[in-house]
Amino acid sequence: MFPAQDAQARVSNSAIVVTGGAGFIGANFVRELLRATAAMVVNIDKLTYAGHLLSLADLGNQPRHHFVHGDICDAAMWRAVFKQYAPVAIINFAAESHVDRSIDGQEIFIQTNVVGMATLLREARDYHASLAAEQRHSFRLIQVSTDEVYGSLGPDDPPFTETTPYAPNSPYSASKAAADHLARAYFRTYGLPVITTNCSNNYGPYQFPEKLVPLVIRNALRGQPLPLYGDGLHVRDWLYVQDHCGALLEILRRGSPGETYNVGGNCELTNFEMVTRICTLLDELAPNSAHCPHHRLITHVAERPGHDRRYAINASKLRYTLGWSPRFSFDEGLRMTVKWCLENTRWCDEVLRGNYAGDRLGLAAFAAEGTTVDF
Ligand code: DAU
Repeated sequence: MFPAQDAQARVSNSAIVVTGGAGFIGANFVRELLRATAAMVVNIDKLTYAGHLLSLADLGNQPRHHFVHGDICDAAMWRAVFKQYAPVAIINFAAESHVDRSIDGQEIFIQTNVVGMATLLREARDYHASLAAEQRHSFRLIQVSTDEVYGSLGPDDPPFTETTPYAPNSPYSASKAAADHLARAYFRTYGLPVITTNCSNNYGPYQFPEKLVPLVIRNALRGQPLPLYGDGLHVRDWLYVQDHCGALLEILRRGSPGETYNVGGNCELTNFEMVTRICTLLDELAPNSAHCPHHRLITHVAERPGHDRRYAINASKLRYTLGWSPRFSFDEGLRMTVKWCLENTRWCDEVLRGNYAGDRLGLAAFAAEGTTVDF
């Protein structure tokens, strides 16, 4: 454990780098940092199909938010960022994250998730070594990873703990596992103060509509099939995204270097149950929808290859060592998410358009505010 004043310095008026901050969890975390700390947030994002400046539109005038259009694989970018901002911490969200896409083509997953992480670690190691002793002591790099690295549980298995052996089953989870191993190696070999977090399925505002929850909401409102892979009885452990962000902030403040922390919602549901709950909420919150009752749209489709049957997280280490537990119940979180999707259909349309048109228009608007650096 490090002195309390170090933790305070890390989240006060110093610069904190967030990678992938235009993506789902990253965009939520950037807001959490700006809300809960006085830090300057340096948000590095490549703006791939899943990252969109529209997710940060309300931060255009926020002087403590600096957007850098860059790729974590770019070593020169890292050197420039370290020189310009001298960050006290880095939180790495930048990743390709969709399992189905990794099944269709793994190259970009290896490139961003593994090569990108290796580049970040190497450059961060050199930067860290150049710091004065006090700053070196308080610096942190947090690798935001997933519970998917642990593989699949049987129905009666105990939930994953931090000591569950890694057994990834998709190209996506294998690439995240490789990155986590590199993180561990950099702590052991070079003393880089890395912390790894393994979180369960998130849901909430700004989630790209290829993932189950926003996809089902969008399809239901359009009267399109709600696709359930296989028998639909696969189990996921759901956590509202703002609770994940709260856990990460606590870990940034008080987590111990070299440790890993599981983050989860203690909320196991089959995919069928999850989709049914969404449909019920839509029936209530969108009563004028032409497609009520929405559950009639549920359609069983072909199984996902290598589909993990069950994930469940034991988050007691985080609870007992750092006092974290989720603030939002599943009912509250899902209701807020459905409402957000109903109120933000334009966001959904726009990010999907950007998916196929390579839309970078938002960048010009941000650059006009003078807070954007383009690499
Ligand atoms: O567990 C954490 C992981 O959760 C993160 O590391 C991943 O980045 C994130 O994508 C998520 O992975 P999943 O594969 O669990 O999420 P997804 O939303 O793609 O699927 C959730 C479950 O729903 C899964 O069992 C597959 C199923 N599914 C998904 C889609 C998109 C369907 O049945 N139909 C669908 O159309």
